[in-house]
Amino acid sequence: MAAEEELGISAPSYLHMVSAFLALEPPDVVISFARDFGGGYITESVQKCIWHHCIAKSDVKWKGAYLKRFLKKFIMEIESSGGVVLDELYEQYASYMISLQDDDASKANSRVLKTISFLFPNESYGTVSCPKSGKLEVQLQCSVNMLEGDTGCSIWPSSLFLSEFILSFPELFANKRCFEVGSGVGLVGICLSYVKASNVILSDGDLSTLANMKVNLELNHLSTGNIKSDSLENHDMVHCVCLPWESASEDNLCSFAPDVILGADIIYNPSCLPHLVRVLTGLLTHEHPNASGPVAYIASVVRNIDTLNYFLALAEKAKLIVTDLTESTEVSNFLPYLRSYNQCSIRLFRICLASKVA
Ligand SMILES: C[S@@+](CC[C@H](N)C(=O)[O-])C[C@H]1O[C@@H](n2cnc3c(N)ncnc32)[C@H](O)[C@@H]1O
Repeated sequence: MAAEEELGISAPSYLHMVSAFLALEPPDVVISFARDFGGGYITESVQKCIWHHCIAKSDVKWKGAYLKRFLKKFIMEIESSGGVVLDELYEQYASYMISLQDDDASKANSRVLKTISFLFPNESYGTVSCPKSGKLEVQLQCSVNMLEGDTGCSIWPSSLFLSEFILSFPELFANKRCFEVGSGVGLVGICLSYVKASNVILSDGDLSTLANMKVNLELNHLSTGNIKSDSLENHDMVHCVCLPWESASEDNLCSFAPDVILGADIIYNPSCLPHLVRVLTGLLTHEHPNASGPVAYIASVVRNIDTLNYFLALAEKAKLIVTDLTESTEVSNFLPYLRSYNQCSIRLFRICLASKVA
């Protein structure tokens, strides 16, 4: 396409603009990348790229409310800077005005489809873990309102961080049996499968979250097998289990026998923490051929320091060794276009049994 050639679709600003749009970032963020892409202006070529690569490809069923909001802002932005708006954009906006009432928009908005694009840094090009296209795209059905009850249906920043950690250090997870607690939308499991963990089990205590997680695995061409009957060593299969921390039995926990345990944004509710620590201890406690034993990686936003300190005190009592890796671990930035996400707000902990360290 002439517009693409003229502007260079491999330019970082192009990748950031399209990735931000597909992730449903606020329209202002996408518009600011669009301006960077056009060298300071939203030129006709930039509008054509947005039209072909973002709007025309989007499914109204999933993104209608966002498309309507985005187009309104985009058109206003072009008009206010004296630019000429493409006819296609006006026509599309007019059709959304007619077909999408605000009521429909807010209902449709309760679940949306976001594409999270992990953009591999230049230095990883050509390595085994880097896809040929330079990006790994993950489709996620999620709720837009984080406070809407089913917290597991939103994407939380710690799972973005844990995913970046997995992609930065694939050797820690390749050929390992991985088990995640409080998996939410399933993003971490999709990344584990991408780096070829030998088997991946995701768990959550909330049934609607588990149902949504399975939809996401299927959207990303992974099958969700039956843990009792299907082979655990299938790279295209991710198992989902219901595991409420309060009622998980020791026998059940020991039966998973993972090499690596993961968790993102699970340290926030003080009343759940004794159960969570018991679950982590159970998963870390099993006879393991590897002398160093299983290890857990937990990513967490510290919203309340007392809650974190309570977790650390419970972990110490359970004879777990918690090491803060935040400062010593350089996690690559695969998500430079997500302006609302900041790696610095997240801490990464490594947890293992004291008896395995001594
Ligand atoms: C804040 S969300 C984080 C979800 C996901 N890990 C992420 O970072 O996007 C917390 C998750 O833990 C799950 N969870 C909370 N309390 C739980 C419990 N007592 N037992 C099992 N799962 C629980 C929730 O259902 C939810 O999926």
